[in-house]
Amino acid sequence: MRHLLSCADLDLTSATAILDLAEEMQQVQSRPVKKLPALRGRTIVNIFFEDSTRTRTSFEIAGKWLSADTINVSAKGSSVSKGESLRDTMLTLDAMGVDAFVIRHSSSGAAAQVASWVRAQVVNAGDGQHEHPTQALLDAYTMRQHFRRIGAEGFAGKRIAIVGDLLHSRVVRSNVLLQRILGGEVVLVAPPTLLPTGVESWGCEVSNSLDAVLDSCDIVMMLRVQRERMAGGFFPTEREYTETYGLTPERLAAMKPTAAICHPGPMNRGVEISSAAADAANSLVLEQVAAGVAIRMSVLYHLLGSDEGAMH
Ligand code: CP
Repeated sequence: MRHLLSCADLDLTSATAILDLAEEMQQVQSRPVKKLPALRGRTIVNIFFEDSTRTRTSFEIAGKWLSADTINVSAKGSSVSKGESLRDTMLTLDAMGVDAFVIRHSSSGAAAQVASWVRAQVVNAGDGQHEHPTQALLDAYTMRQHFRRIGAEGFAGKRIAIVGDLLHSRVVRSNVLLQRILGGEVVLVAPPTLLPTGVESWGCEVSNSLDAVLDSCDIVMMLRVQRERMAGGFFPTEREYTETYGLTPERLAAMKPTAAICHPGPMNRGVEISSAAADAANSLVLEQVAAGVAIRMSVLYHLLGSDEGAMH
């Protein structure tokens, strides 16, 4: 694998290999010395043109735990703020001998565009409303752990509801593509105004009613209402949205006893998810965050690592 730009870059073999290696990588998290020599001498630049807490930090930790030299660049504080173009910025950094870029950008397709310009390998850490492949991988990893705990193996026959602002979500696109590979059954739930154009061609069940599907789902993944990407009114009031699509304490009680809650974060508590649900015993939110480091270690290793010295 040269780049990871989309979950469409994966197949069952490569996706499973990333999930499996992440299990080994996660053991590093509980060690007193969190360091493997696998990427010693490699240089990774995390370049973020959009804000991030989870993705940027976990990629930095992942690189450091694999002994790579990791450098963080943000648009603010770089020459982008003086008007330098994305192409010139990336070619400048590439000329310094960088091995990989982890890039987040507000424009859909930016990561693929960068990959066409630079010599280094590229990981898409979120491009506009398009994709966020490592988020879908960490979601799948977390779900797989949950299914194992309840005595199930694999994704076949598992119903995964993805609920909320699907229109502006890159997470939903990556999850749909990845679950098509892994075999989970995705149910998309949103008001008609927050469904992406052409969603009927995605091969998923689509519903406008959370209550109609809630008790049949094994995972309920709530997505953030992305106010910053909303120019107009997509629903009458926030209160009405919460009443119809929020994971309220009442809906938490209506879930299957073995079902679990996911949220990629950041969460709008009290809007798409109540604190009762976010902090519930069956909430996997912090497990997803922890899995983020392991998955990103695995992805960086698959892209940059050699067979020798990986796991010692
Ligand atoms: N889930 C996610 O991408 O979070 P950040 O924006 O904090 O990286």
